[in-house]
Parts: sequence; structure tokens; C-alpha cells
Amino acid sequence: MRHLMNPLDFSTDELEELFSLAEDISHDTAKYAHVCDGKTLATCFYEPSTRTRLSFESAMIKLGGQVLGFSEASSSSAAKGESVSDTIRVISCYADICAMRHPKEGAPMVAASRSGIPVINAGDGGHQHPTQTLTDLMTIRALRGSLSGFTIGLCGDLKFGRTVHSLIEALMRYKDIKFIFISPPELRIPDYITDELRDAGIEYEEVIKLEDSIGDLDILYMTRVQRERFFNEEDYVRLKDFYILTAEKLQLAREDMLVLHPLPRVNEISVEVDDDPRAAYFKQAQYGVYVRMALIMTLLGLN
Ligand code: NCD
Repeated sequence: MRHLMNPLDFSTDELEELFSLAEDISHDTAKYAHVCDGKTLATCFYEPSTRTRLSFESAMIKLGGQVLGFSEASSSSAAKGESVSDTIRVISCYADICAMRHPKEGAPMVAASRSGIPVINAGDGGHQHPTQTLTDLMTIRALRGSLSGFTIGLCGDLKFGRTVHSLIEALMRYKDIKFIFISPPELRIPDYITDELRDAGIEYEEVIKLEDSIGDLDILYMTRVQRERFFNEEDYVRLKDFYILTAEKLQLAREDMLVLHPLPRVNEISVEVDDDPRAAYFKQAQYGVYVRMALIMTLLGLN
């Protein structure tokens, strides 16, 4: 039985197969409408989410399966003190596969170790968010045609942003990728990641101003400041509007640069940017459904 905890759990060849399947699903979704007939997905979300939970549910429904679950810890037995290990053993009796989001780093991994069904990490604290990374890679592959040979700027909360951590680790396996980390000093990328990049001989730069590097980028990955992971509100208020991508700043960027964002957006991209052809974040959300359909099929051995 296979779980997905980290984007590196799949080799690049396996990812290629997954993306090809997701691409085929995107071209002819109806062909897959009964692949998961009789199967059930449980979504166990101990932390708020719109996209991830609903895109998993949408993915399972489009495959003909059923969904059940909870969307906050307070409406589950966690509120009574049940451990994730016990919860997953019980969920294993009700469903065939589980997507779990948890505010504590490593919780889905603990669940996986006790589970009778495949578990997908749908975000664990500030650690990893592998299915967002699959979404991001699929978007880049679809819109640029390749997962190698580009400069990507990651901008915003690089300290707490789990989507950033997962994406960097996943991209490190592809060729000729240069990273530019754009953040205020307080929210800089964790040292363990820059150490990994240095050890692997991968080029990266750290900068504070978006305007200084936007012109060099093939992809700009914007992120929101992760309010829920701050220890005090004052720091959040001081940092939350550090970066705002406006139409004016976008004039400094290349004509074919892609703007990605895992969403939800707060203020970091002004709405006027949504109409720019370079804005790809809503397309990205659509790719997220296809790639989750492909993932559910793969983990259930139905591909
Ligand atoms: C991200 C997350 O949950 O980490 N959202 C998502 O899954 N699309 C990003 C975020 O919350 O900022």
C-alpha cells in the first residue's frame, strides 16, 4: 500500500506517468467518470481549507466515487481527545483512501503508519503540501511545456509557506532551475533548504525587493503571509502587505512570465492582475482537480 507524504515519494518517472494521466483526464474527463464507482474518499481536515478539500472531493466525485469526512477538528472526535492513529484506524473501516490535513507537522505520517488505507498528506503545519506541489508542477508542465530550464522566483512568506518548501524540493530534481527567494528577512527560506540547495550545487539567490528581480523570472510564485503560524498579531500586521503585485510592477516582467499562487490570495496580488494573460493561478486550481484525480487512481491501483 502506498501513501503520499512528500512530493519526493514519487520518482520523476512516476510523476511523469501521473502528469500524463492527469493530462489525459483533462482532455476527456468523461472517460474516467466510473473509474472509482463503489470507492469512498475520506477527507479528514483538522485545519481550514477550501481548495484542497473541495478539489479532492470534486476529484473523487468526477471519478464516480463517494466522499465523507470532516472539515474542522472541532467537529471530529479530536475534540474529545482522540489520537490521529485511532481516528485513521476507524476511518480505514469506512473509506478506501484518505486525504488528511493537520496543523501539526508529521501528523499525516503518524496516521499513515497505522492506516489500513492509502493516506495523502493534504498539508501538515508549515512542513509539506505535496498535492499542491503536484498541482504546481502540472501547471508549469502544461503552460511551459517542460519542468526544466527556468528561473523561478518564490515571493512572500518563505518561512512558514509549506507549498514553497514542497515545491523547491520537488524542483531540485529537474535540470537547470535557478531559484530566487524574495522575502523580508523575518520570513526568509529556512536554512535546511538553502543547505540542501548548496549541497546539490543548485543556483539560488535571496533578495528583498520584488522589483529588483521580477525582470529575470520565467515564473513568479506568489504566496500569502501565513497568519495562523505567527506567534503574535503585531508581526503579522507589519509583514502582511510587504509585497503586492500590481499591474504596474508586472510591467517590469517578461511578456511570457507565469504568475502562480497556491491561493487563497489575501492582498499580495491585486485583482487588476487577474486579467493579465500571465496570471495563471485560477488555471492552476483547475489543474489541481485533474492531478488529484490521477493521484487517487494511482494510489488505488486503478490507473
Ligand atoms: C495553501 C496551504 O494550505 O498551504 N493553500 C492551498 O492548499 N491551496 C496555501 C496557503 O494557505 O497560503
